[in-house]
Amino acid sequence: MIRRAQQAIVVFLIASASGVVAIAQIRERDSEWTAPSEAAARPNPLAGRPETAAGGAKLFHVRCASCHGPDGRGASKGPDLMDAAVQAQTDGALFWKLSNGNTRAGMPTFSFLPEPQRWQLVLHLRVARRAAEGRARATGISEAR
Ligand code: HEC
Repeated sequence: MIRRAQQAIVVFLIASASGVVAIAQIRERDSEWTAPSEAAARPNPLAGRPETAAGGAKLFHVRCASCHGPDGRGASKGPDLMDAAVQAQTDGALFWKLSNGNTRAGMPTFSFLPEPQRWQLVLHLRVARRAAEGRARATGISEAR
């Protein structure tokens, strides 16, 4: 009985320690990387069509999740895109960043995707953030970092 309890404690400690490591491994965002103001001022032509975000979610899963994580919360290869500082940027700024990339830092260029798909991706980032906020309200657990 005691052995079982000890085993359970060891498993718990290993699990929580690896959880800490996972959090520490999320790539930091680069606050120096900013979009030119002209690009940032471009409005999202799909802003009035939130239903197009679903297509953006699929694209995100295929093209972005490997680095930014399935929910966009960041992983070892890409920063957290739900971060307040990312979300504070305009649709135009995020569109410019994902179009141009920052290849030296590991963010690829997605200018090969048709423009509507790139705007859909931006829309998806907004919807994903709102969904995360909704979950935080429902559970009382904030995912915000
Ligand atoms: C190969 C890994 C990789 C893939 C795939 C990738 N990213 Fe990134 N992304 C990065 C890295 C690394 C950065 C940080 C760049 C830097 O430090 O300048 C980044 C940064 C960003 C930023 C800027 C965040 C900020 O701090 O302002 C946005 C927006 C973004 N990515 C969106 C996307 C989208 C949308 C996709 C899919 C179409 C995507 N990324 C695919 C690695 C990736």
